Amino acid sequence: MAKSPGFTCTACGAVHSKWSGRCDACGEWNSIIEDEGLGHGAGPATLGQARGKAVRLSDLSAHETPPVRTQCGLEELDRVLGGGLVPASALLVGGDPGIGKSTLLLQAAAAFAARGLKTIYVSGEEASAQVRMRAERLGLRDAPVQLAAETNLRDILTTIEAEKPQLVIIDSIQTMWLDSVGSAPGSVSQVRAAAHELTSFAKRRGVSVILVGHVTKDGQIAGPRVVEHMVDTVLYFEGERGHQFRILRAVKNRFGPADEIGVFEMTGRGLSQVANPSALFLGERGQPTPGSAVFAGIEGTRPVLVELQALVAPTPHSQPRRAVVGWDSGRLAMILAVLESRCGIPFAGMDVYLNVAGGMKIGEPAADLAVAAALLGAREDTPLPADTVVFGEISLSGALRPAPQTENRLKEARKLGFTSAIVPKGGKPGGATGLNLTHVDDLTAFVGDIFGA
Ligand code: TYD
Ligand code: MG
Repeated sequence: MAKSPGFTCTACGAVHSKWSGRCDACGEWNSIIEDEGLGHGAGPATLGQARGKAVRLSDLSAHETPPVRTQCGLEELDRVLGGGLVPASALLVGGDPGIGKSTLLLQAAAAFAARGLKTIYVSGEEASAQVRMRAERLGLRDAPVQLAAETNLRDILTTIEAEKPQLVIIDSIQTMWLDSVGSAPGSVSQVRAAAHELTSFAKRRGVSVILVGHVTKDGQIAGPRVVEHMVDTVLYFEGERGHQFRILRAVKNRFGPADEIGVFEMTGRGLSQVANPSALFLGERGQPTPGSAVFAGIEGTRPVLVELQALVAPTPHSQPRRAVVGWDSGRLAMILAVLESRCGIPFAGMDVYLNVAGGMKIGEPAADLAVAAALLGAREDTPLPADTVVFGEISLSGALRPAPQTENRLKEARKLGFTSAIVPKGGKPGGATGLNLTHVDDLTAFVGDIFGA
C-alpha cells in the first residue's frame, strides 16, 4: 500500500501540508503528527463499476419506508437519538476519560437487548470479567448482552459476521487496530481506518454501531473529532467532575434534531435518568442573593431552568480576572463591554466570575440578559426580585431581542413555581402564562427598571 504522507491534528483531524507547533484549525498545541493517511494507493483514477447508480428521487420515495426506530426505554437516551436507534446507523459517543461513557453504554446495551435487539458489547479496555463486575454493580448481571474483549478489528468483524447482531458497541475506538495500518493503536490513521472499516461493514450488514471515543489532550492519541464526519450521529457526554450530573448532548444527528440533551445523575448503581432537570439544577437555590439570576433556557426541544451566579470584586492585580464556568468567555467580554459603553456601568478594575450552577453548559445567546442581570446584581449588591426568570439576547447596541420559544420557557417557569419574568419586548408569550411579565426595550431600560441605576 502506497503511503501518502501528511500531517494531521490529533485533536480535530485537520490535515496540514507541513508540521507546525500549533494547529491553525482548532488552536491546540503539539497536536500535529506525521501520518500516513487512509491512502489505498494514489494510482491514476480509472472508471469503476457503476455501483453508485443514480435513481430518480420520486421513484425512490414510492418504495422506501422510513426506518423503524428501536427505543431502549431510557427516555433521556431515546430523545437524544431523535426518538430511538435507527437500524444500520453509526453513532459516536465522545467524552473525557472517566466521565461515565462505559457505564452509560453498558446500561444502554442492556436496555436495547431487553427490547429484543441482539447486542454485542466489545470492550478493548477491560477484560470480560471486569465488564461483568461492572454489570453486577449496575444490577444488570442477567442482561442478555453478549460481551467480547477484543481489539483486533478483523476478529471483531468476523464475530459480527458470525453472530449477526443488530447492535455492536465498541468501547473504545482508540483501542481498535487493523493489521493493514502500520501505526500504533490510537493514532489518527488507525482510529480513522478502524472507524471506516467498522461503520461501512456494519452498514452493509444492517448492523448499528456505537463507537466510544475518549477526548484526549495527548497529541499521540487521536480524539473522537477525527471520526465525527464518518458517523450519522455524534453525542458528547459531559459534566463537571465534582458534580453528579451528566449531560448527553447531540451535536450532530442525521436522523433527528441536534442540540437535544439527556440529563443523568451518577449514583453508586450507575446512571439514573433525570426527567425534570430544571428542578434538579435549581434544587440547591435558597433565598435570592445578589449576583444570582435564573435563566429560562431551551435545550433541544425541552425547556431547562438554570441558575447563573456572578461575583464582582475589586481586583488586587493590574489585570483584572475574568473567569467563566459553563458559558462562553468571549460572550461575557461582550456583555461587559455593552454594559460599560451603552449603560455607563464600568467593570474596569474589578474581577468578574460567572458560573452556571449544576455543571450545565449553556450555548444560547438568549442567556445574555440573565448574565447581565447576575453581573449587575453582583456589582450593585442588589438581589433580583424573588421568583423571577430572565431571558433575552443582547445586541451590541444594547437593544434586546426576543428569544425563540418564549411560551415554552414561561410555561416551565410557571410549572416550577416562579411568579414573574423579565423578557424583551416583542416576544410572543402565547396564551395566559399566569406569570407577571415585565417587558424591557433595551439594556438601559432594564438597568433603570430593575436596579434603579
Ligand atoms: P466509566 O463509565 O468507566 O467512565 P469512562 O468509560 O467514560 O472512562 O466511569 C468512571 C468511574 O465512575 C467508574 O469507576 C464508575 C464510576 N461511576 C459510578 O460509580 N456511577 C455512575 O453513575 C457512573 C456513570 C460512573
Ligand atoms: Mg470506559
